[in-house]
Parts: sequence; structure tokens; C-alpha cells
Amino acid sequence: MTRSILKHFLAPLAAVSFALAGCGGHNDAATSPKNSPEQITRGRYLAQAADCAACHTAQNGAPFAGGVKLESQFGTFYGTNITPDPKHGIGTWSADDLYGALHDGVAPKHKLYPAMPYTSYRQMSREDSDAIYAYLMAQKPAPAPNVAADLKFPYNVRFAVRFWDMLFLKDALPDASSGQSADWTRGRYLANALGHCAECHTPRGAFGQMQDAKTLQGGELGRIGAPDITPAALAARGWTGADLQAFFATGFAKQGSAFGEMHPVVYLSTQHLSENDSRALATYLLGDAPPKPAPLVAAKVDDPTQLAAGRSLYLDSCAGCHGFDGQGKPHVAVAMDGNSTLRQADPRNLIVSMLDGIEAQRFPGLENMQHMPGFAGTYTDEQIAQLANYLRATWGGQPADISADKVKSLR
Ligand code: HEC
Ligand code: HEC
Ligand code: HEC
Repeated sequence: MTRSILKHFLAPLAAVSFALAGCGGHNDAATSPKNSPEQITRGRYLAQAADCAACHTAQNGAPFAGGVKLESQFGTFYGTNITPDPKHGIGTWSADDLYGALHDGVAPKHKLYPAMPYTSYRQMSREDSDAIYAYLMAQKPAPAPNVAADLKFPYNVRFAVRFWDMLFLKDALPDASSGQSADWTRGRYLANALGHCAECHTPRGAFGQMQDAKTLQGGELGRIGAPDITPAALAARGWTGADLQAFFATGFAKQGSAFGEMHPVVYLSTQHLSENDSRALATYLLGDAPPKPAPLVAAKVDDPTQLAAGRSLYLDSCAGCHGFDGQGKPHVAVAMDGNSTLRQADPRNLIVSMLDGIEAQRFPGLENMQHMPGFAGTYTDEQIAQLANYLRATWGGQPADISADKVKSLR
């Protein structure tokens, strides 16, 4: 349905958008950035904080040479080559051009799709864009050709994106807010202008736009969900500022590990944040007056025998790694007791991790964990539901209300 609305909506306006295409240039005075080693080092830090590599460096590919496949409801996008290669990369680009791409989503020769999160980078300062420019220009040029996006009509009409921009591209952050601390303000910049946390953690509307009224209240990325990370929701799952900082730095906290799309965010980006910036990010998420973390209270279950089947499956298949009392095992597996994946009202990440398992992932420093096997082939929908109910009620404080049908819908 969504798709046909957009098609009819855009078609008559395509001509208007095309007419507008010429007017959106960026005429910022050409500031020529110094390519000093300090500038390049700063650019590296900022590119990490903004996680450019997540979409522009393919696994086993040359740094920033592109080719990362990004699936979306509109079709498949590919991160492009942003090395200084003059033919395939951005070697002929000026600092103005890069700022145009980050701020307006405009490349010298074409309009970019919002799969490149310029909706967030728009808030980046010119100074930070220039430092990233200096860093990218200091990279090794990689002669890797770009892969064209494979999109369904009408999304394959590039200039129509200008119309989308007119509706959904918001202006920069309001100036220093009233009464917020310097940490909070810095954290807001890190979360929005650089880390683009909202691109995953904010629900999207029918046109793929972020729903600003629900900022950070949780988004869906295919089968996995990016949970609600507003202050009240984080506190309800037991998070403190110190826990968040541990999670950003190491990928672990007592609430569990970073997995799914969050793992590369930690591995490529947040682990590199300075201690001050990590604290600022946590301060922004929880607020200057963080709500008290909620204690974990096991859920009331009318008939405790309901959980017996789940308990027995847990002892058979999970306790060896996660511990008989859900306490976890150092360097083997995270705790289930108080794990934030179990404390979410939405059970999808819990169910999907049981079905698919989690590949062995690298974590910052020396930490590593085993891979978590998937149980899709071992257990029926009914059994996965029993496990989910046992885990949620016992260690998540959530109702034991998961049905076999719910599990089926996530297979
Ligand atoms: C969430 C994924 C994602 C992230 C993160 C991301 N990009 Fe992109 N970027 C893309 C995609 C996809 C395209 C291609 C868009 C298109 O085809 O219209 C793109 C295009 C570009 C282009 C245009 C290249 C060209 O040849 O037209 C530049 C420049 C760029 N990105 C720079 C950056 C920088 C710098 C960062 C970090 C500050 C960054 N990107 C982070 C996904 C991303
Ligand atoms: C071989 C050891 C192993 C077994 C068996 C195992 N897990 Fe895991 N599990 C892990 C590891 C390791 C992680 C963390 C993986 C990561 O993030 O890299 C994990 C993560 C999880 C998570 C996500 C929570 C988080 O914070 O990462 C859930 C939920 C989970 N396991 C539930 C289960 C259940 C239920 C079973 C039994 C049906 C089970 N696991 C069996 C090792 C195991
Ligand atoms: C590419 C998508 C994506 C981006 C970008 C992203 N996240 Fe996440 N995030 C997820 C997903 C998916 C999960 C759920 C898996 C997990 O818990 O590790 C998650 C989980 C989290 C959690 C754990 C919540 C809990 O209760 O378990 C926190 C905290 C978090 N993200 C913060 C951030 C911050 C801060 C940023 C920006 C710097 C960010 N995320 C950027 C996808 C993303």
C-alpha cells in the first residue's frame, strides 16, 4: 500500500522537483582546510564517531572503498567508494562538495538517496566536515567501481528525492538548549550529527522518514528491533550512565552484549570515543537528571507450572553457557538475569536471537565470547515460546504472554 501511495504522490511532482534541482546548490565560501596531521587525526576520530566505515568499508574490502550492501524496503543500496581515487572515488571532490553531500545529500553530479544518512549529518559542523575531508583525502585511493543501487520504481528516480527532502529534511539542531549541561549538549551532537543513532532507533513513517515526534522510541530493522533508548525506557531496563559507557566502550554491560546491527556501531564507532565523549553520549541519552534504574522484579505468573517446560528446555540447551541461574559465564556467554533483551516488552530480539543464534563476534580489547547456536531447527514454535516465556517472566520482569504464532511470525 505504502508503495502505491508514494508512486501516485510523486509522479505529478516529479516535474516540479526537476525544476528545483538546479536551485539547491551550496555556495559556502570555500574554506580550504589545512591537511595538517592534527586535522587528519581529528578527522579520523570524527569519521569513527560518525561510523562512515559501517556503510563504506566492506568486510575484507579496502578501507572506504564501498560495496557494503544495504537492504531497505525500497530496494538495495550500496555504500560508495569514498577514497580519493579520482575515477571511482571522491578524488576530484572539494571540501565544499563533501559538505554538500553530508549537509544536503547532494553530490556534484547527482542527488543522493537518504540511505546515506545526510538527514542526520546535516547537523554536522562545517569544521567537522572539513576534518573528515582531510582524513578521507589522506586515505589510499582504491580503484573499486561503485555498484549501482537496485531499486524499485519510483524510488529509482533520483531527482524525486528532492521532493522527499522538501518534506522531511529538517534543519540543524536548535541552538544550545535551555538549562542543559555542556555534556548533554555535546552528547546530543554526538548522537545526532555524528553517531546517527536515531536513524535506527527512531520509528519510520510510510515514506521511510524518521518520525520526529517519536525520536529514539525504537525502530524496526527487518526482524531485529533497535529498542527504545529514551531515558524512561533505558531506566526501566536497569541502565545507568556507567553501564551505558561500559556498553559503548566494550560492547558489554550487565544488561548484555551488543549484537545485530548494534555490534558494528560499537565495534567500529563508539569504542573509539574518548571518555569525555562517551560520558556525554550517556548523559544525553539518560538526561541531566537520569531516572532511577528500575529494580528487576520477577513477573507474577498465575500458574508457575506454566514455566516448567521452558525451564527444562533452558537447562537442556542454554544453562551450559548462560548458567543455571542465568548468571552467565565469563568469556563464554552473557547473563540472562536482568538482560535488557529479556526486559523489553517487545519480544522480537529475544525470539530472533534464539532462532538464529549470534555469530562469534569480535569485541574491543581482548574480550571474546563463544558463538551462540541458533535453535530454529531444534525447537518448535511452541518450545521457543515456552523458552521465551520462562526467560521473560523469570529474568526480564515481563509477562509470559508469548504465543507459538508470535514465534512463527519471526521465523
Ligand atoms: C547508513 C549507511 C551510511 C553511512 C553511515 C554513511 N554513508 Fe555515505 N553513503 C551511503 C550510501 C548508501 C551512499 C550512496 C547513496 C546514493 O547512491 O545516492 C552514500 C554516499 C556517500 C557519498 C557520495 C559519494 C558519491 O560518489 O556520490 C559520500 C561523499 C559519502 N557517502 C560520505 C560519507 C561519509 C563521510 C560518512 C561518515 C561521516 C558516510 N558517508 C556515512 C551510506 C552511508
Ligand atoms: C554455546 C554457548 C551458548 C548457548 C548454548 C546459548 N547461548 Fe545465548 N548467547 C551466547 C553468547 C556468547 C551470547 C552473546 C553473543 C554476542 O553478543 O556476541 C548469547 C546471547 C544470547 C541472547 C542475547 C542477549 C545479549 O545480551 O546478547 C539471548 C536472548 C540468548 N543468548 C538466549 C539463549 C537461550 C534461550 C539459549 C538456549 C535455547 C541460549 N542462549 C544458548 C552463548 C550461548
Ligand atoms: C544500524 C542501526 C543502529 C544504529 C546506527 C545504532 N543502533 Fe543502537 N541498537 C541497534 C539494535 C538493532 C539494537 C538491539 C541489539 C542489542 O541490544 O545490541 C541496539 C541496541 C542499543 C542499546 C542497548 C539497549 C538495550 O536495552 O539492550 C543501546 C544503549 C544503543 N543501541 C544505543 C545506541 C546509540 C547511543 C547509538 C548512536 C551512537 C546507536 N545505538 C546507534 C541498532 C542501531
